[in-house]
Formats: sequence, C-alpha cells, structure tokens
Amino acid sequence: MKTSTRFVALFFGVLLFVSAISAQENNSTSTGLAPTPPMGWNSWNKFACNVSEDMIKGMADSVVKSGMKDAGYQYVNIDDCWQVSRDSNGNIVPDPQRFPHGMKAVGDYIHSLGLKFGVYSDAGSKTCAGRPGGLGHEYQDALQYAAWGVDYLKYDWCNTTTQDAKASYANIRAALDASGRAIVLSICEWGTAKPWLWGKEVGGNLWRTTGDISDKWEGSAKWPDGSCCSNGMLAIVDQQIGLASYAGPGHWNDPDMLEVGNSGMSDIEYRSHFSLWAILEAPLIAGNDLRNMRPEIHDILTNKEVIAVDQDALGREGERVSKKGNAEVWAKQLQVGSRAVVLLNRGSTEQEITVNWEDLGYPNRLGASVRDLWQHKDLGKFTGKFSATVGSHAVVMVTIKL
Ligand code: GLA
Repeated sequence: MKTSTRFVALFFGVLLFVSAISAQENNSTSTGLAPTPPMGWNSWNKFACNVSEDMIKGMADSVVKSGMKDAGYQYVNIDDCWQVSRDSNGNIVPDPQRFPHGMKAVGDYIHSLGLKFGVYSDAGSKTCAGRPGGLGHEYQDALQYAAWGVDYLKYDWCNTTTQDAKASYANIRAALDASGRAIVLSICEWGTAKPWLWGKEVGGNLWRTTGDISDKWEGSAKWPDGSCCSNGMLAIVDQQIGLASYAGPGHWNDPDMLEVGNSGMSDIEYRSHFSLWAILEAPLIAGNDLRNMRPEIHDILTNKEVIAVDQDALGREGERVSKKGNAEVWAKQLQVGSRAVVLLNRGSTEQEITVNWEDLGYPNRLGASVRDLWQHKDLGKFTGKFSATVGSHAVVMVTIKL
C-alpha cells in the first residue's frame, strides 16, 4: 500500500472506531432520562405496606385533579409490598388481593391520565419489608417491568449481605436497558457506599444520600436493630453539605421523599422543607395522601415559583453559603444568571437574616431585584445585601436578579 493510501485507510479506521464508540454511548435506552429532578408521588411515607390498586388509582386521579400534574408532578410510584412471592418460573408475583387486575392494569390506568408509573424492588434477596428481592432475577424482572409499562424503578439495599453496591446497581441498570424500555433508576442505598461517587457512572438517575426521612423537624434516631438512622428533615439537610458538585442533569442527589402534609410538622416547617428541597435541586416526590389535602398543603406542593427553582434547567444544586448560629443562607445559581436564595431560621425565636451579594458571587456595589417566592411579590431593588425578618423554623425564599 502506498503511504497516502495507508494514511487514508488509517483515517477512516479511526473515524469508524470513534463513531462506533459514540453510537454505543448514545444507544442506551436510558440516555436523556431525568434532565431535571423527577417529580411525582410515592406510597411509602404515608401508607407503608398498605398499598392497593384502588388507592394507587385514586392517588393518580388526585395528581391530575389537584393541579399537581400541571405543576410538573409526573410519576406515581408504588413502594414496597406490592409483591408477595415468585412463581415456579421465578417470575415476581404481585399481591392478588391488593392488585386483583395485576400491575399492567395499574400502569395502563396511570398512563391513561398522562402520568408515569413507578415500582420498587431491592438489590438483595428480600426487600426491606421482607418481600422477594431482585437478586439473581434482575434481567427477568426488568423484562417484566417493561411489559407492565414501568417508567421508574426505586431499587433498595436491604438484605444485600456482602454484595458490592456499585456492581449491583450497574447490573440492574444493564438489565433495565436490555429490556428496551427507558426506565429511570432510583438508587436507594442510603449513602452508605457514597453513591454520589459512582451513581452517574453506573447509570443511576438519582441516589439517596442518607437514611430514611421521618416526619419531624430535626434530630435523628437509630432503628430498633441499632443501625443508623431515621432522620428529621434538618438532619437530612445537614448531610447534603459537600455533595452539590456530584449532581447535574440526569443524575441527582436524593435527600429522600417529601413529608409535606403528613402531619408531623407545622405548615411553616413544611414550607421550609419544600423550599430546601427546591434549593437542593432534589427530586420532589410527594408522600402524603393527595386525596384529601388541606388547601395549605396543596399550596405548598404546587407553588410554581418554588418548583421552577427546583426544576431549573441549569441543574446546579444549591449550597449553604453562610451560617451564623441558627441563621443559614442557602443559594443556588439559576439558568438565567440569577440566584435563588433561602434564608432559614432553625431557631425558636424570630430573627433577621441577611444575604450579602458577595456570598452569591455578585459585586457589592450592584443593585439587584428581589422577588419573594412565597408571597409572590416583587420586593424592589437592593444594593449589596438583602435582609428579612424570618420567623421560628421558617424560611424567606427569594430570587435575586442583577
Ligand atoms: C427502605 C427505604 C424506604 C422504603 C422502605 C420500604 O427503608 O429507604 O424509602 O422504600 O425501605 O421497605
């Protein structure tokens, strides 16, 4: 071969190789899932094992009727306890009493409302509630989920003994992709093996960063078996420090599902909970009974200005930029170049909290427009800083735009 011919052959060889690699990368059915943090509803926080076809359909109806669908909520997710056994072929068997028409019927109903369908399983031999887990059945289960029309799988970490977390979640992602259906993978490993370090690489779309949330303002308590921990809302928030850089479009830190409306906190505290989840660009998965929400709870869950902060297309998770005792300032960069800010009062008495422009990376001498996202009101122009009086356990949430 002449040198020039050899060169041309080499050139096209390299071109083919590069395009084969990029085709492989783009081929995954899961590419492009969860460009913003998933929004939806999940059964666990309110109903635990008390799930049924009727209840789930009622909840899907309420997502539409309440205006939550219009506000961006999409997924209706059944957590633990829908499954009871495996048949002689190893197929997972849904509870025939609670789901008399099977899981596809539930998925079809959810889809008929323009919503998406989620289920739960576990990487180990059994789920946390002792139902059959996915271990050894990953590909079989993934095909089954795809046949039912599942769009979202939460995959838990109970009864995994010596399993390697990264390998286990890579395995279920490969199985989901092999099913041919685009399925969001929610890694529920509680942060033990630092999933923020490998979750994106294995194709996880979100990963829990902590143990379970409980419906209280603060504090954290060990489970009855001595393992750690059931966390109050602020205990979860504190565990997000330092994790912001791991999140981005398609791969999110998950500080667990919302407790808004479950009665363990005041409405003021639930407003703080929702605002902090939005500034953290967290998945917004409601966990209350949507069929009979008080108007105050409805107004928190459907505040479109706060949701817009959470769903901002830049995908930049917010961070705590200052802390003075019980007064904290959390800030997040938005796509349009402005900032969203939460002034959080963790204390038991009202206090003034200030955000300085320099905490936001803005020059002090510049004036910026401030808008209150809970009062839905423009507050005017401020130079160098903005201060507000914040009630006990409350937040003031604003956008600040140069
Ligand atoms: C674990 C998870 C929870 C829930 C339960 C179900 O505790 O972290 O979110 O899914 O299991 O048993």
